[in-house]
Amino acid sequence: YTGASAGFLLAPSVITSCLNAGTNNSDIYRYPLQLPDTLNSDQLRASRDNLTIAEQYTLEALQFNGSLPGPTIRMKRGEQFQVQFHNDIGQESIIHWHGMIVPPDMDGHPKDVISEGSYSYDFKINQRAGTYWYHPHPHRITGPQVYRGLAGFFIVTDDEEEALNLPSGDYELPLVIQDRKIDDSGNIYYDPSMPERMMTGYLGEHILVNGVPNPYHEVQPRPYRLRLLNGSNARIYNIAFRDDNSFTVIGSDGGLLPQPVETTELLLAPGERADILVDFSNGFSNNSAELISKTFSVPSNGGMMGNMSQMMGQGSPEQGSEFPLMEFRIGNEINSSNFVDLPQQLSEVNFPIEDNAVRTRSIELNMEMMTGHTINGRLFEMLRVDEKITQGDTEIWEFINNSAVPHPMHIHAVQFKVLSRNGNRDLIPTETGWKDTVLVMPGERVRVIVTFDALKGLYVFHCHNLEHEDAGMMANLEIT
Ligand code: C2O
Ligand code: CU
Repeated sequence: YTGASAGFLLAPSVITSCLNAGTNNSDIYRYPLQLPDTLNSDQLRASRDNLTIAEQYTLEALQFNGSLPGPTIRMKRGEQFQVQFHNDIGQESIIHWHGMIVPPDMDGHPKDVISEGSYSYDFKINQRAGTYWYHPHPHRITGPQVYRGLAGFFIVTDDEEEALNLPSGDYELPLVIQDRKIDDSGNIYYDPSMPERMMTGYLGEHILVNGVPNPYHEVQPRPYRLRLLNGSNARIYNIAFRDDNSFTVIGSDGGLLPQPVETTELLLAPGERADILVDFSNGFSNNSAELISKTFSVPSNGGMMGNMSQMMGQGSPEQGSEFPLMEFRIGNEINSSNFVDLPQQLSEVNFPIEDNAVRTRSIELNMEMMTGHTINGRLFEMLRVDEKITQGDTEIWEFINNSAVPHPMHIHAVQFKVLSRNGNRDLIPTETGWKDTVLVMPGERVRVIVTFDALKGLYVFHCHNLEHEDAGMMANLEIT
């Protein structure tokens, strides 16, 4: 168990046995959580910085405004967002506002990259309150840029949400979860091997929450709102508490759910967000609430590819392993003036209805020996239009995962509703709301319904496993 004293995570079986042996949590959760500042300028500057993290790890970081994660953007619906993006990192980049519905030239299409100088963003916030985020989107190098630190929250509020009086201020915590690899000399490094590029994506064995390894945070015994973002390149988490306490899911990628949903676990794939309420006054023992990623199974899609991905995913704990994420240390004061009285109806949603869909598009996700992960048999090409859509049309998209690894599929310029998933996995609580990214496990067919209301132009859709995306698992959609 020497690893733990150095702050290292261990193989899942080791973690479990240590915890069973009564290990002190303060050995695992050694550093206080940090919360990024709110962006209070109209400049976002990406630069290279050498960082020391938790006094022992080094990272050749890329940061927005010198912050890890980037500063949190907070806007209200109806406001105009203006920011000047400066690229000082010495390679191509461009910012995508994930989940935001913006004009095509504001969306961070990889064709709009700049290798130096600046790019002006200026758009009106015209969508539901929710937890969105921003990150770079250059073709082939999104993975390393996000991994090295370029990602931040973009939080939108509106009147409907404010009327709910959800926990705010100190009681609302945006938390971005990211796994990292650290070598023997303490360097956080990005160097995917061929199998990682081809199969699993880059999986690390150390967890950072808001840039801090397995942090702790002192909380009061009362409800908190946690805005969870899976900002990892490839790792899926099954969000849970160590003691299996239940929590309430109130929001998803595209804001508040129609109704709150209680659960004890929640899958969160790269790119996805979950807005949850946790009542720390209730049910946690020893004044401690350990947020973990619980084991889950990835369906094997059989065949040679399935076996190969098993073999090739070696080196890091595989998808579905158990991980400690962070600890909430629960204090004693009770601030009884702040309890949340949650209505049964959280928000009004007007999902498109199936009868109005003008067509169904099949989006086949394949793994081919020579090319790697493809969408409908092809790799990304910068200007080739793969799907042409008439503005205003409602369509059903069916994602069909024929490969042996999970693919979290993200469509720009829209929010959609998940309709169904074949096999034995039901829709999960976040899928009762608006989504922009949906997890498609091996062998699954997932149908989503979407209305293409955005401005005419070129946008992308892609797998949000960033190694898959960088290897070309992306395509263009044009709204005409
Ligand atoms: Cu968060 Cu096109 O991605
Ligand atoms: Cu993928």
